[in-house]
Amino acid sequence: MNEPASMPHESRAERAGHFVQMVGVVKKFGETVAVRHVDLSVKKGELFALLGSSGCGKSTLLRMLAGFESLTEGRILIDGEDMASMPPYRRPVNMMFQSYALFPHMTVENNVAFGLRQEGCGKAEIRERVAAVLELVQMTRFAKRRPNQLSGGQQQRVALARSLVKRPKLLLLDEPMSALDKQIRQRTQVELVNILDQVDVTCIMVTHDQEEAMTMADRIGVMSDGLIVQTGSPLDVYEYPSTRFAAEFIGSTNLFEGAVTESAADHVRIESAELMVPLYINHGIGSPSGAQVAVSIRPEKVVLRRSRPDAAHNWAEGAVTHVVYMGSYSLYHVVIDSGKTIVANVSSLALADMGAPEVGERVAISWNSQSGVVLTQ
Ligand SMILES: Nc1ncnc2c1ncn2[C@@H]1O[C@H](COP(=O)(O)OP(=O)(O)O)[C@@H](O)[C@H]1O
Ligand SMILES: [Mg+2]
Repeated sequence: MNEPASMPHESRAERAGHFVQMVGVVKKFGETVAVRHVDLSVKKGELFALLGSSGCGKSTLLRMLAGFESLTEGRILIDGEDMASMPPYRRPVNMMFQSYALFPHMTVENNVAFGLRQEGCGKAEIRERVAAVLELVQMTRFAKRRPNQLSGGQQQRVALARSLVKRPKLLLLDEPMSALDKQIRQRTQVELVNILDQVDVTCIMVTHDQEEAMTMADRIGVMSDGLIVQTGSPLDVYEYPSTRFAAEFIGSTNLFEGAVTESAADHVRIESAELMVPLYINHGIGSPSGAQVAVSIRPEKVVLRRSRPDAAHNWAEGAVTHVVYMGSYSLYHVVIDSGKTIVANVSSLALADMGAPEVGERVAISWNSQSGVVLTQ
């Protein structure tokens, strides 16, 4: 059967694919510019993560979406509607705070029911909605407990239930894992994604933890100093960072500064003072000869070897200065002959095969011509 091209209940914004739109958003607190200029579109049903270090403006951006903070410049549209004169309580938005802000003297079910009571929902409806959402977050059997009788992860699920019970179209999560122990954080990340998959909600979360963003998000916006410097899928932002900042912020990387010496449609050659041989990359980059660029090579793309390869490019020799054993892999720090330290992520299997080099040993490193990402900014 053919579906109609657009369903009647779809709004204009949904058809355009932008459920949340931020256009030229700026926020100043006196002299401090917390958000410099943000244009951002988030699609319906997406889990979008704003990732950046402390103070880069993440919470401010969320608070503007929720309506707790005014805009200095720009516009925010949610589901096609301008939020400029819309007070927080009328927005189709709910924000879950870092601290959860549960009422300590109320049971779990009363905490969750609180917002619905405020709205004046009927008793039967409240009972039904609270029961359904507690089921969803798997907290039914803790309904009569108080927050101080729950673990951190359980408190977080109550806070999430309290947000979801109001059926917001847009859920905002500010550092949702920050109050949890490291061990339960990873499991909770996956649980949270599973819960959100079951409800019809668009979610914007902020985090400074790149692993968390990579685990949870459909799309990531990398923030730096009040700007979103790159957006893309976790794979995109990791494999194809667009700037030196994004390459270094997401994961760790080896960056070589240099100049393009040969620029063709199918390859590029770059000379760096940090390497004895040129870098060679097997695709064109659209930058002319002479352009100053950086090349990012992830530690897992660096091959550790006992002797240098018989090649005119993409290798270096040096001495092992440090080995960090990580279980399934080790991080080898190698000071190459230019004095630069390169980090190689070497699997335990590869180390067993080659016989693990020790600190002080001379080794070679190499990488292939697909591995470098050229950064022009
Ligand atoms: N109410 C405020 N008054 C003045 N400055 C603020 C206020 N809120 C945030 N800031 C400043 O704005 C910048 C961004 O803060 P914030 O959005 O909280 O960052 P993040 O959540 O990324 O850590 C910081 O420099 C912070 O000090
Ligand atoms: Mg914050």
